[in-house]
Amino acid sequence: MNPIFPSILSTNYFNLESRLNEFYSNAIDFIHLDVMDGHFVDNISFGHMVVSAIKSKFKFKIDSHLMVNNPEKMISKFIHAGSDWISFHVETKNKIRENISNIKAHNLKAGIVINPDTAIDTLFPYINDADYILLMSVFPGYGGQEFIDSTVDRVFKIKERIKYEGSSCLIQVDGGINTSNIGILKDAGVDVFVIGTFLYNSDNIKKTLMSTLSRINGV
Ligand code: DX5
Ligand code: ZN
Repeated sequence: MNPIFPSILSTNYFNLESRLNEFYSNAIDFIHLDVMDGHFVDNISFGHMVVSAIKSKFKFKIDSHLMVNNPEKMISKFIHAGSDWISFHVETKNKIRENISNIKAHNLKAGIVINPDTAIDTLFPYINDADYILLMSVFPGYGGQEFIDSTVDRVFKIKERIKYEGSSCLIQVDGGINTSNIGILKDAGVDVFVIGTFLYNSDNIKKTLMSTLSRINGV
């Protein structure tokens, strides 16, 4: 699995298909979809129809990041639209375990997302249930924000807890990631990297993906 999951939030939607073709021909396996309801975050993006649309044309796996209130009302739509991974925010508070079970009952990977200002021990009760933890390195709602440096220490602490619990839970980070911080994130224990703006600002996506991957692999 390529650990780079491009986010399409900041793409130019008029050339989304060619962008996805570029990702596919550069060994990208997963696409990260930032779903925003205008309530949990004060921005609106797109719904489960985009999952179906991408799946109808491409062989990507889809990682749906639900930045929505009441995710229990949305999860089934994203399951049936063809998501492979679905994450929702711990800040939505209710039905956390039910949501995880519902996602896993359909043989998808279940993720829990945490905002930069939420205490990491909020996640601890779920480390043995969730397949992955998404640590936001920006406040959710927009692409192109500055990476929050305290994320690195949070990754380290979560990784310690995962080891302590003997869990196989993966760590995903999302927001402001580029080649200047991806190495230190990898060393702290990150398994999956969501990248948007840094890729779209590049004038040679092949070169940028190669250099990013080599930073992750420490070469
Ligand atoms: C923000 C989203 C991120 C973002 C990607 O709410 O979750 O996925 O689009 O961040 P950048 O564009 O900074 O890589
Ligand atoms: Zn995201």
